[in-house]
Amino acid sequence: MCGIVGIIGTQEVAPRLIEGLRRLEYRGYDSAGVATLDGDAIERRRATGKISALEARLAAEPLGGATGIGHTRWATHGIPNETNAHPHANGRVAVVHNGIIENFQDLRADLAAKGHAFASDTDTEVVVHLISQFIAEGVDPVEAARRAFGRLQGAFALGILVRDRPDVLIAARQGSPLAIGHGDGEMFLGSDALALAPMTRRITYLEDGDWAVLSTGGATIRDLEGRLVNRPEQLSNLSGAMIGKGGHRHFMAKEIFEQPQVIGDTLNAMFNPAARTITLPALPFDLAAVPRITMIACGTASLAGMVGRYWLERVARVPVDWDLASEFRYRAPVMADGGLAVFISQSGETADTLAALRYCKAHGQHCLSIVNAPESTIARESHAVLPTLAGPEIGVASTKAFTTQLVVLACLTIALAKMRGAIDHETEARLSSALTEVPARAAEVLNHDERIRAIAQSMLTPARDVLYLGRGSSYPLALEGALKLKEISYIHAEGYAAGEMKHGPIALIDESVPVVVIAPSDPLFDKTASNVQEVVARGGKVVVFSDPEGVARLRDLALDAIALPAVDPFVAPILYAIPVQQLAYHTAVDKGTDVDQPRNLAKAVTVE
Ligand code: F6R
Repeated sequence: MCGIVGIIGTQEVAPRLIEGLRRLEYRGYDSAGVATLDGDAIERRRATGKISALEARLAAEPLGGATGIGHTRWATHGIPNETNAHPHANGRVAVVHNGIIENFQDLRADLAAKGHAFASDTDTEVVVHLISQFIAEGVDPVEAARRAFGRLQGAFALGILVRDRPDVLIAARQGSPLAIGHGDGEMFLGSDALALAPMTRRITYLEDGDWAVLSTGGATIRDLEGRLVNRPEQLSNLSGAMIGKGGHRHFMAKEIFEQPQVIGDTLNAMFNPAARTITLPALPFDLAAVPRITMIACGTASLAGMVGRYWLERVARVPVDWDLASEFRYRAPVMADGGLAVFISQSGETADTLAALRYCKAHGQHCLSIVNAPESTIARESHAVLPTLAGPEIGVASTKAFTTQLVVLACLTIALAKMRGAIDHETEARLSSALTEVPARAAEVLNHDERIRAIAQSMLTPARDVLYLGRGSSYPLALEGALKLKEISYIHAEGYAAGEMKHGPIALIDESVPVVVIAPSDPLFDKTASNVQEVVARGGKVVVFSDPEGVARLRDLALDAIALPAVDPFVAPILYAIPVQQLAYHTAVDKGTDVDQPRNLAKAVTVE
């Protein structure tokens, strides 16, 4: 993962590199560093931990220079200490890198044999020595960089400073995103347009295989053979303002509480209130004719896709395959021409999802993405985009992106069902109306925050393991509840299909394992209720999320039960996502973990 930023200009760059890095912290926060060219020397400062640690370092030991590169790291090769922090440098060349250089061991052995001494355990450091080796052999520094790019295998976005060419900043992209920003008498480099938003909105996205030479006067972009290529300049819509917590203690809390609003915004873009119909944006293919849908994503986004599969099969009667992006292409899936592949991603930069998108494109699929970042690589490479209007999601744990993904999938389901004749106008109107109720019902769910906090404190904080159970479209929510709890509170949790429990996990049940049951009143409620009986019979402590009718039926069995508003079962997954987020949030706050930036994680996962 990692975020990179670079500036070649005329004023001091270190403070502006820090500003860019702050906006890239969502890509990793294991360590950070900057290097500048000051006169004819490369200087650098690095620190373990977040950007604030680097800032403190720079305050104590400032860096001059009008050209520089910066990096925020999510460790892949080598532990997150200062030695492994980027930029990597040897006095002649400094490099920041996002991605993984897969052949680094061979390169390192070659270079070590030629006398190069390595300081870090990273894959990145070979780039420094490779370029230096070519320069030492008499090759011009820019040509040396190009030759080095040709030797690298794997994924990389690189920013490079060379002492002998203080007039340029060199960049390269292969598999990891990289953007060039255009200023007046200065040029910028960033992992995304957001990093550059305070400095410029004029952006050129590099494509795979591109490498660029930036100077204060502009940039030239070439392919690996050295041919000039033309990449368009675009005007980014991203704002340069930093986003605040809106009075909440954490971004995650703010984002949970924003859900009524952003669910409404996302829905309003597709719902016609007069006709009570859903209208999708014009698509460059015939949606009604697709024979099969493949739903692909990672993590929480994949669980939105799993809910989507229940909806699309049940309501639109179209066959749906579902897969984790990280597994999808390795089973060499057989895909009929003209199928629809749906990619779900908050960041739009997830490496596995992007690789799956490219596989599907190459296998004759219509590629539709549901993304929250409209200028992301996944959005740009898809044939069509259905945006989630969640706004920037800063907390690492996905919340409002998930519920807005569900809203888009629900709209896709209704629109496709109508096109295929699987539902009549009356059903379309009923399902659409149920959707329009969700923002108000979501606001009612948030009123249970204090009760949920109390449950978190009394039952989840002391637990070592927690089970989440659900059936049908509540099963992905059980998985999502467990994922959310694990990632921010570090408590081990498992989500299970309620009916699967007796095939193994029931052995775990005793009074120390809280069981969270997601059970809206729907046609599967009675079966879930039987599973609750089985848990209680074995001394398990159950928390139920249901509606007033469901709670009335389970009240005597459960240790605690929260009655959410009664809604049409079709939209229940959107609503029931919220209390499981609140439960995880309050448990994490109670345990004192870093809720917005949990350990070992990053917001955009740009390595496979
Ligand atoms: C969990 C979480 C992750 C992401 C996953 C995919 O709370 O946020 O599981 O859902 O990394 O990321 P995107 O949606 O950016 O592709």
